[in-house]
Amino acid sequence: MPLIIKDEYPKKLFREDGKRLDGRDKHELRPIKMEVGVIKNADGSAYLEWGNNKIFAAVYGPRDVHPHHLAKSDRGILRIFYRMATYSVFERKRPAPGRREKEISMVISDCLEPVLFLELYPGTSFEVFIEVIDADGGTRCAGTTVAALALADAGIPMRSLVTSVALGKIDGEIVVDLSGIEDKAGQADLPCAITWFNDQLSLLQFDGDMTLEEMNKCLDLAPDILKRIYEMQLNALKEKYLKIREEVNKSEEIATEGGEQ
Ligand code: CDP
Repeated sequence: MPLIIKDEYPKKLFREDGKRLDGRDKHELRPIKMEVGVIKNADGSAYLEWGNNKIFAAVYGPRDVHPHHLAKSDRGILRIFYRMATYSVFERKRPAPGRREKEISMVISDCLEPVLFLELYPGTSFEVFIEVIDADGGTRCAGTTVAALALADAGIPMRSLVTSVALGKIDGEIVVDLSGIEDKAGQADLPCAITWFNDQLSLLQFDGDMTLEEMNKCLDLAPDILKRIYEMQLNALKEKYLKIREEVNKSEEIATEGGEQ
């Protein structure tokens, strides 16, 4: 998929054939790939390619809280560090975390906290590092989705996974999963996330211009779109255990063959 790398916004976000600029239909997601267990020094990790976005998440915890004064005696704390690499966007991004990264870290933390049993881990922290290597719209949603996957990969007890996607409006039409250019040149952006244990939205942000009717249309569309991404998260977790089973089977076969000789 071509990266639109300049801030030259096209006048139209739909092509003559009715498709979006990247060839998608209105309710079509960008291609998504997910993998867990990708960082060997983390307790849990995941990698996500979502359109042109490339994002790693690494989880550590439960572990001591640094700095100590942040520790809570009656519960654990969740700390999210969302960072966009300086080379992840066309305009050089300052390496130091800015206000946007702090805000997104807080938003993702609010999305994920309801699924964790933090009350069972007093005095400790769970830290999730979300590293955006390539950014092209919807990184807070992709970051939330990959962070939930990394937490599950770490074997941390969770009430459920969390899945996130942005819906929005471009050229007067409601679309799902805005790309970077659609985010910038479109009329509205509505990132949302769901916690599956209670089917509640744990994130609903809004930026732009939309009627109440259009917003309701987005909210009607969201569950089905989120479900599609949720299935991919489940498959990524299953893949890991299928691979482990394959390896165990192979080593058992080798051991049996060795014993027979
Ligand atoms: O990524 P998300 O849509 O969650 O957040 P945003 O603040 O609405 O940013 C939209 C997109 O703008 C990002 O995904 C990046 O592709 C781009 N961006 C950028 O080019 N430079 C920045 N400093 C921040 C964002």
